Amino acid sequence: MEFQHVSVMPNEVMNYWVSDPQGLYLDVTLGGAGHSRRLLEAFSAVRLVGIDQDPQALAAAAQVLAPYQHRVRLVRGNFREVARLLPDEKFHGALFDLGVSSPQFDRPDRGFSYQHAEAPLDMRMDPDSPVTAMDLINTRSASEIKDALWQYGEERWAGRIADFIVAARRRQPIRTSGELVEIIKAAIPAGARREGGHPARRTFQALRIWVNDELGALVEGIKGAWSLLVPGGRLVVISFHSLEDRLVKHQFRQWHHEQVGQVLTKHPVTATPEEVEANPRARSAKLRAITKT
Ligand SMILES: C[S@@+](CC[C@H](N)C(=O)[O-])C[C@H]1O[C@@H](n2cnc3c(N)ncnc32)[C@H](O)[C@@H]1O
Repeated sequence: MEFQHVSVMPNEVMNYWVSDPQGLYLDVTLGGAGHSRRLLEAFSAVRLVGIDQDPQALAAAAQVLAPYQHRVRLVRGNFREVARLLPDEKFHGALFDLGVSSPQFDRPDRGFSYQHAEAPLDMRMDPDSPVTAMDLINTRSASEIKDALWQYGEERWAGRIADFIVAARRRQPIRTSGELVEIIKAAIPAGARREGGHPARRTFQALRIWVNDELGALVEGIKGAWSLLVPGGRLVVISFHSLEDRLVKHQFRQWHHEQVGQVLTKHPVTATPEEVEANPRARSAKLRAITKT
């Protein structure tokens, strides 16, 4: 299957990521390798290590990067382990382009989307990780589910949705996206359901973050990548929701105050209206960058 993912803020990423035109670079969210391919294309002497936890993404990236393979090494793993995965290398720049890729979202069998009614509720970015969305919603307590929907989805109906989930699973286990969407629709009062966007959007976002422990991985991942940078090396993070952006902002500020880093983006960089028009995923993207001093 073809891997179609339009990279967000490609020019801005190049500007912030590259500190040395002959350096060694780290892309910890390789995905379709859109950003990495641009880097390797633009600078004939750079080398790259690319990481992804999704073997389908790595296989697609290997094809895209085949012309540059003598300058590229691909590693499967979770970026929260980056310092352990790459103990012997130092990098001139590290890139985090968070979230899921379009192919992960579009493939019904991955279970990320509320638009595929028959899809199993999976949502693991790493298909070998032990816990799926189905496991969480069928086994966790109402209060754990409520907390996750509230914290990771900022879903104001979290309590009602959690109660409806627990009531529904008493009748039979909840297995598909479509079943969960119907439960969410029943839980949110009709008047509120007409407000902004698909009623299942926040719940699905929350479950994805929970299944993949995305915030925990981000905190550990950016610290790990930071430890792998040479002085003058740069860390670039593109986030897609406020919880991620807040974590990145605070960590960067701390390094700045400790005088071990210099923040390069006083305010987050966002996509131009033209880019958002062409690629709606770019709408919520926020890029922050910092140099190690
Ligand atoms: C938005 S896509 C990256 C797209 C890429 N920058 C491009 O231009 O094609 C994010 C990728 O990061 C991967 N990913 C997300 N969290 C990860 C983690 N904790 N460890 C490793 N890979 C992760 C996902 O599997 C996905 O392939």
